[in-house]
Amino acid sequence: MIDDGKYELFVGGEFVPAEGSETITTTNPATEERLAEVPAGTAGDVDRAVATATDALDDWRLLDPAERGRLLHALADAIRDERDRLARIETLDNGKPLSQARRDVDGAARYFEYYAGVADKVQGESIPLSAEYVDYTLREPLGVTGQIIPWNLPINILGRSVAPALASGNVSVVKPAEQTPLTALEVARLADDVGFPPGVLNVVTGYGPEAGAALAGHPDLDGISFTGSVPTGREVGTAAVENITHVHLELGGKSPNVVFPDADLEAALDGTVTGIFATNAGQVCSAGSRLLVHEDVHAEFVDRLAGRAADLTVGPGIEDPDVGPLVSAEQFEKVTRYLDVGREEAGEPVVGGEALDRPGYFVEPTVFDDVANEARIAQEEIFGPVLSVIPFADETEAFELANAVDYGLVAGIFTSDVGRAHRFAREVEAGQVYVNEWFAGGVETPFGGRKRSGFGREKGLEAIDSYTTTKNVCLRIDR
Ligand code: NAI
Ligand code: MG
Repeated sequence: MIDDGKYELFVGGEFVPAEGSETITTTNPATEERLAEVPAGTAGDVDRAVATATDALDDWRLLDPAERGRLLHALADAIRDERDRLARIETLDNGKPLSQARRDVDGAARYFEYYAGVADKVQGESIPLSAEYVDYTLREPLGVTGQIIPWNLPINILGRSVAPALASGNVSVVKPAEQTPLTALEVARLADDVGFPPGVLNVVTGYGPEAGAALAGHPDLDGISFTGSVPTGREVGTAAVENITHVHLELGGKSPNVVFPDADLEAALDGTVTGIFATNAGQVCSAGSRLLVHEDVHAEFVDRLAGRAADLTVGPGIEDPDVGPLVSAEQFEKVTRYLDVGREEAGEPVVGGEALDRPGYFVEPTVFDDVANEARIAQEEIFGPVLSVIPFADETEAFELANAVDYGLVAGIFTSDVGRAHRFAREVEAGQVYVNEWFAGGVETPFGGRKRSGFGREKGLEAIDSYTTTKNVCLRIDR
């Protein structure tokens, strides 16, 4: 537990020691100090968790779906009851500002609440055939599922991936990120507190290439859901396909935020700031990291944006600033390397561009202007508070630029022209489109990528499709 700073694995409804004695020290990125220790789980630990989950599967999938829903609802309530404590742990572990951590915790509770309501509505259909037959479909759970969770929204993405899995009758083995393992263990404890059968929700902490790879490649797994980087997603996908395991990949993005002169520019500024700076310091898969702005408002917009960025407070998450530290030394090095790349490609940034001279992994909100679309900072996922601005002349060019990138997760447009908004929605290669508000939508709205951003959908009722398989039953009834 956080109080003595030492956690164990959560398997079979209780905290249990790992096979080995190696631990991972998770740090507070605002201070670089030790926060807690978790086991560095191994393939053996993953084996045990998968076996435990397998033992729990029949009871869980055959449980009255209404009762499954009640348990998920109770977990949502328990998460809300511990909101402040969980948010504090998330902030200390990940770095994010406290109010953003509270939003993430609320979001996690909302996922369990939403899918609690879905649990008894996962139904098939009957299919009309000729008079000699009756035909119907069953929507069945995949079985034993794994969820590999990244460090940017730990408790939130856990809710997003695990709640629909459990609601539709699957059991879960979760591998949280080594940088931010704590809230996953806390949620598993709460699930046990509210009466989940042991083994339905298990958490194995550990390093990606060890515990993560063991989970992704486990032959007894029926489904794996991964959120993270493209290279790791490729490895997870390959391992899953080796076993013909159902796989779902959510791999980040480099999403266009398109601003037209007819937009409410104040709303567009809000969306831009929220989309790349004031949410998790830009460490968000759906960040608006490419700002495409029409040349008629380009100079004014960038000027006002620079002012807004300079006014953002940067500091330890626990003080609830606008922008917290980056999650780790590795992420800090990656982002500061991109600041150098950006200077080579686009010259001095119009605002920001420096790391803060203090302990912790702090980087100023940074805007590079007049960036060529081919530049690395316009094409590669930086995952930090760094924005590339690309001017455009007309709608055709804007839409071409929006799609001229390998990723396709989300896309946003700010315009008062309804026809243009719909044209953009039709043409843009993305899993979801925001019109006049960045991050518009919620737990109810399907989310996932195209192109290099991955495939499969989470959130909304569509997530149930990702976690179920259809069985057709056809009866000959005239004999
Ligand atoms: P990563 O993709 O390696 O890590 C994500 C998760 O995968 C973690 O739980 C990790 O332990 C696990 N993992 C790592 N190697 C694995 C393997 N071989 N098999 C199975 N699981 C494995 O991401 P990383 O290295 O932490 O971050 C690098 C970059 O990835 C970031 O700078 C960002 O651009 C991107 N990223 C995107 C995220 C998103 O939300 N789409 C989330 C996190 C990172
Ligand atoms: Mg940490």
